[in-house]
Amino acid sequence: MSEQVVYLNGAFVPLSEARIPVLDRGFIFGDGIYEVVPVYDGRPFRLNQHLKRLERSLAAISIDNPFDEAGWRTLIADLIGRHRWPNQFVYMQITRGVARRDHAFPKGVQPTVFAMTSEFVAPAAALREQGLAVITADDERWLHCDIKSVSLLGNVLAKQAAVDAGAAECMMFRDGILTEGSSSNIWVVRHGRVLGAPVNHLVLEGIRVGLLAELCARCGLDYELRRVPREEVLQADELMLTSATREILPITRVDGVPVGNGQPGPVYQRLIEAYQAATREA
Ligand code: PDD
Repeated sequence: MSEQVVYLNGAFVPLSEARIPVLDRGFIFGDGIYEVVPVYDGRPFRLNQHLKRLERSLAAISIDNPFDEAGWRTLIADLIGRHRWPNQFVYMQITRGVARRDHAFPKGVQPTVFAMTSEFVAPAAALREQGLAVITADDERWLHCDIKSVSLLGNVLAKQAAVDAGAAECMMFRDGILTEGSSSNIWVVRHGRVLGAPVNHLVLEGIRVGLLAELCARCGLDYELRRVPREEVLQADELMLTSATREILPITRVDGVPVGNGQPGPVYQRLIEAYQAATREA
C-alpha cells in the first residue's frame, strides 16, 4: 500500500508531508472538534448522522462549517477513493485556525480543516467471544460532553487508567449515575431490556445510540434511554459498548468481577448480527 494521503486545508498531501503551524488553536487550546466515520466496502456508514453531529459540534463552539453536506460528501468520497482498503475509518478535524495566542476567539481567521482515513480492522473474533474487561471511575470531565471536542484530556486519562489496570475501557459515573465510556457509549441489559444513558450535555450522542434503537426494534428488544444508577449497572445480565471503531462489543468483567455468567450474552449476539447486517445493507 502506498503512503496514506490526507486532506489539509484544500489539498491532498502524503501524511508525512502534512504540516500545521504551532500556533494552531487545536494545538494550543484544543479548540476544535472532530468526527470518526466508519466505512464498509468503500461506503461511509451513517454519514448523514455523522455530518449532522459535526454541524452541531461546530455550532456549539461557533466555528462556521467549512463545507455544506455535498462538499463534505465529495471530500470524503475522494479521500476514501485514494486508498485501497475496503473498510476504513475517516477522521475529520476542524480547529478555529492559526492565531497569536489569546484565549478569546481571533477575528478573521480561517479554520484549519483536516481529514484522514485509516484501515478499519473490525474487532477480533476473540474479543467478541470473550468480551472486554472494563474498570469504573468517576466521570471527571467537563459539562459539555455532547460536543465532540478534540479537548480529550479527561477521556485520555480515563482510558489510560483502564489500560494501566489491564482493561479495555473505563466506564464512567457522575454522582453514581452512568454516563459513558472514555471513547464509547455503554449499554446495560436487564431482564431482556437494553438500557442506555440519556443523551444530554453529559454524554456524547454516539451515532450508534440511534442505530441501537433501530436494531433493538428489528430484534424485538425493549430499548430505553434513562438514568442508570451504578448498582443497576453492576447487577446487569449483560453489558456492551458501542463506537464507530469498536461496533458493538460485549463487556464481561467490571473491576475484575464477571458480568452475569462472565460470557457474552444472547442480547449481544442478536445485536451484533443485526449490526453487521446493517453495515452490509447500507
Ligand atoms: N469515539 N462517547 C465518546 C466519549 C466517544 O469518544 C465515542 C466515539 C462515543 C461513540 O460514538 P459513535 O457511536 O458515534 O462512534 C461515545 C470515537 C470513535 C473516537 O474518539 O475515536
